[in-house]
Amino acid sequence: MLGDMRTLVLGGSVFLSRAVAREALRRGHEVVCAARGVTGSVPDGARLVTLDRNDPAAYRPLAGESFDAVVDVASISYPWVAEAIAALRERAGHWTFVSTINVYRDTATIGLRADAALAQPRQEAGVKEAPTDPDLYGGVKVAGEDAVRAAFGDRGFVVRPGLITGPGDRSDRFGYWPGRLSRGGRVLVPDTEQLTQYIDVRDLAAWIVDAGERGLSGDYDAIGPATPLATLLPAIAGALGADVELVSVPEQVLTEAGVDYWAGPRSLPLWVPAELAGFCAHDPAASLAAGLRPRPLADAVAGALEQEIALGLDRARKAGLTSSEEAEILARLG
Ligand SMILES: NC(=O)c1ccc[n+]([C@@H]2O[C@H](COP(=O)([O-])OP(=O)(O)OC[C@H]3O[C@@H](n4cnc5c(N)ncnc54)[C@H](OP(=O)(O)O)[C@@H]3O)[C@@H](O)[C@H]2O)c1
Repeated sequence: MLGDMRTLVLGGSVFLSRAVAREALRRGHEVVCAARGVTGSVPDGARLVTLDRNDPAAYRPLAGESFDAVVDVASISYPWVAEAIAALRERAGHWTFVSTINVYRDTATIGLRADAALAQPRQEAGVKEAPTDPDLYGGVKVAGEDAVRAAFGDRGFVVRPGLITGPGDRSDRFGYWPGRLSRGGRVLVPDTEQLTQYIDVRDLAAWIVDAGERGLSGDYDAIGPATPLATLLPAIAGALGADVELVSVPEQVLTEAGVDYWAGPRSLPLWVPAELAGFCAHDPAASLAAGLRPRPLADAVAGALEQEIALGLDRARKAGLTSSEEAEILARLG
């Protein structure tokens, strides 16, 4: 099924779900986005149906409508997933549930595939209210996955992204590196053998729309090939033609200087502790064989840098080092 498809995106006004809506429109689908209409805007050509998933009668505004493909990105609440399925399953052809790479129990082993053991399912709402419970996000996603598998079987596509980058990304993680490297000079980088991987939001959106069109089902990770961080960072600098000196600092020195892994203030994004080495080094072979097409690094870097510039390179960041933090640590190292 192709151009005459009706696609429902639960969301559609920010980052990934917006990119899915835009890609489906580009392919000629009729696109309905269902959201409260308070965050962002849906792409031109999509119809916004305003509803609140916390409302017990949330899906009433969609009464009488049916869809060839539904895409759900619910991330903070298991009841959202279950209630959407209950309300729409009889009227949905194919169902994509956007899960996360955080569902796996084992975060240390390199090269895990999508059949690896999952965390305990958690049938709760409240990921936002309990952001310090590290198991809740993955557990809520596992429960959502289970509900989708049970309801849709071979019409259900469970896709588990790793770090998503690209236009619309507000997490400040991958973008830190193109942003920082584009400014040139001496750049503090971790001295690590760790692998890392990411997926561009546009490639993930294209694969999700493909899945609806082709009826792809099953569980898949959504990540590109795992690359050593020590290779990726110079490659990003190269893609940017940046004039930089990468100052590679032992991990222990960084930790002693109060630098955090991955995200948050005073952090180095993409850098993870040994116990999370597998979290960003899954085996993408099955996903690549099933049609995921990661774009060349230079394209992903250009998209991430565009987003960084749009947000402002000197903004207060959710992840990364400020210029003065980096300068202070470099000065201390001599
Ligand atoms: N970022 C990453 O690196 C990463 C990695 C792995 C997995 N993921 C997953 O990727 C997905 C990202 O989705 P996304 O980028 O579209 O962002 P999102 O923040 O998960 O989804 C936001 C959408 O949901 C709508 N929404 C929020 N509250 C609502 C409510 N009460 N009722 C109805 N709609 C509501 C928002 O619009 P309104 O606010 O206007 O309602 C918006 O359109 C998530 O599933 C996330 O778990 C992300």
